[in-house]
Amino acid sequence: MNILFLGDVVGRSGRDAIAGRLPALRQRVAADLVVVNGENASHGYGLAPDMARAFFAAGADVVTLGNHAWDRKEIIPFLEQERRVIRPVNFPPGTPGHGFVVVDVPGNRKALVVNVMGRLFMDALDDPFRAVQALLQQHPLGRAVQASVVDVHAEATSEKQALATSFDGLASLVVGTHTHVPTADHRVLPGGTAYQTDAGMCGDYDSVIGMQKAPAALRFWRKMPGEKLAPAEGEATLCGVFVETDDATGLARRVRAIREGGRLEAAGE
Ligand SMILES: [Fe+2]
Ligand SMILES: [Fe+2]
Repeated sequence: MNILFLGDVVGRSGRDAIAGRLPALRQRVAADLVVVNGENASHGYGLAPDMARAFFAAGADVVTLGNHAWDRKEIIPFLEQERRVIRPVNFPPGTPGHGFVVVDVPGNRKALVVNVMGRLFMDALDDPFRAVQALLQQHPLGRAVQASVVDVHAEATSEKQALATSFDGLASLVVGTHTHVPTADHRVLPGGTAYQTDAGMCGDYDSVIGMQKAPAALRFWRKMPGEKLAPAEGEATLCGVFVETDDATGLARRVRAIREGGRLEAAGE
């Protein structure tokens, strides 16, 4: 299975890059499954239902979220109707929406996609390790599903790597989101799980993690709350990772960084 994962889409610049570039990219890499993290799509904060629909129209199959899941209130009823948009699975029981989805993939195949949030330097949710373990055990690779993708929305690289090594061999891809900078460590782990600590954002990199740089920097110079930050408006770099898996085992054969457009050096499949 050819899997394309794209990191946090930030603001209009990121949304324009998805609409403008994803259809051709999806075709070029012959993706069977496309997952996009949409937690910052709405002016940097949250995801509106029409934005999720635009991602699906551009070629996304599943949209994941993160700590900004609830910033646009319209998402709450939408999460109940649209199973392909998921929020972190380790919110406490009773939270609206779902933390995982099983989608049909052409060729009579199925894929599990999980969104989970780390706890280090973030709101402490339920245990991400046990939550992911339970889902991967319920959806064994090569049997219930042909592939599984875990979007680890977390601040700390240590926690992301700890999750990845814990599930090496049980998931097709464990990929980090939230820090908005692509890491150069994409690789296939010894057990066959593809991994990248952070996919990077789909946003304007002439910024502070996607937001306009001067007001964002000022917050660090002056230790006082500033105005609400707005996304940078230059051309976005589409950032993510491409993985080819073996349907029989669900494990990764190869993994490549994807970067196109905007300020970062291009990398492709
Ligand atoms: Fe984000
Ligand atoms: Fe985040």
